[in-house]
Amino acid sequence: MLDRSLVHAEFVRQFGDVPQVIVQAPGRVNLIGEHTDYNEGFVFPVAIDLATVVAARPRADRLIRVRAHDYGEDDQFLLDDITHDPTRLWCNYVRGVCHALLMAGHQIGGADLLITGNVPRGAGLSSSASLEVATGYGLQVLNRLNIRGEALALLAQGAECQFVGMQCGIMDQFIATLGRRDHALLIDCRDLRYHTVPLPTAIRVVVADSHIARTLASSAYNQRRAECERAVAAFRRYDPGITALRDVTPDWFAAHAAVLPDVERARARHVISENDRVVRGVAALEAGDVRQFGRLMNQSHISMRDDYQISTAEIDALVAAAQQAPGCLGSRLTGAGFGGCTVSLVEADAVDAFCAAAAAAYHVATGRTVTWHVCHASDGVGLLSSADHSAT
Ligand code: GLA
Repeated sequence: MLDRSLVHAEFVRQFGDVPQVIVQAPGRVNLIGEHTDYNEGFVFPVAIDLATVVAARPRADRLIRVRAHDYGEDDQFLLDDITHDPTRLWCNYVRGVCHALLMAGHQIGGADLLITGNVPRGAGLSSSASLEVATGYGLQVLNRLNIRGEALALLAQGAECQFVGMQCGIMDQFIATLGRRDHALLIDCRDLRYHTVPLPTAIRVVVADSHIARTLASSAYNQRRAECERAVAAFRRYDPGITALRDVTPDWFAAHAAVLPDVERARARHVISENDRVVRGVAALEAGDVRQFGRLMNQSHISMRDDYQISTAEIDALVAAAQQAPGCLGSRLTGAGFGGCTVSLVEADAVDAFCAAAAAAYHVATGRTVTWHVCHASDGVGLLSSADHSAT
């Protein structure tokens, strides 16, 4: 990751001129509400202080040239001929966003783009959403487009679903766009209404990166989504008003669960109980009851492990180590699953002791090490610098 002055210098080195804008979009960590977004339910993420930075300058033609500094790789394509690159995944995030902007009817011209960042890649902290949103916002500013935050998030999500092929929900792009410093966002993924909830100053959001590659993430993710859709189709025979698992209350589920096959029943149980946990958890946090929020995080992990089956033995060991460490209020797998990161809520004055104890217990259990990120809830996408202030 380059710092801001180096981004400027590197842009000049690559493209022979200064960037017109430099923007950044954050990664995210979800505190509770996993695999609920594409079921039109509730999520509760924070934008974190790890980000993707895009420096950009317009061109007079229709060419997009991209330098991925951290990969030492380049891409270029014409806006009138955007194709999927099967060999290099990262290219498709940029191509997909350009494609989505054009499909939505926005007029964009060619550009030179330099990308750098410090969101760990493939770790479950949404490096891809931060790249999509930073690219989209950079092009929005360059081309003086008027796109609201919600619309930019939807465009970025569309790029990932239609161009990259991961049938993701809206959470990651939404929080990368609309995150708020010192707050988490309760997002209703049905109508995209949201409200900001201040994080108590006496707690810290601690992420542990397991470095376990999420090899299954994309295929198993799409499979989980299909299983949820099958559960909805089965439930609709009993109540046609059900269009998503969001519509099913825990009581209705208890009365009708037996009509589902085992796998769909377990998946639905996770989603329905998780939505309920988000709502109760946010109410607890707003009432100042962080311990109750932490207990719900622990329950969320059990539900992901047993019903949604997206955890791994190592992640379970990491969560168990964290839950027993000093100052821990709650801990769970975060993100799509199958490896990646855990998130813990920890009393601020116990963070060092927490990390040391959890790392030691995890090492004893698995022989593995983790990287800790003590995250500060941050703002969503924004301008780092601009040569033309009217462009903001
Ligand atoms: C990934 C997806 C999100 C969401 C989470 C699981 O991060 O991109 O839309 O579904 O997994 O909660």
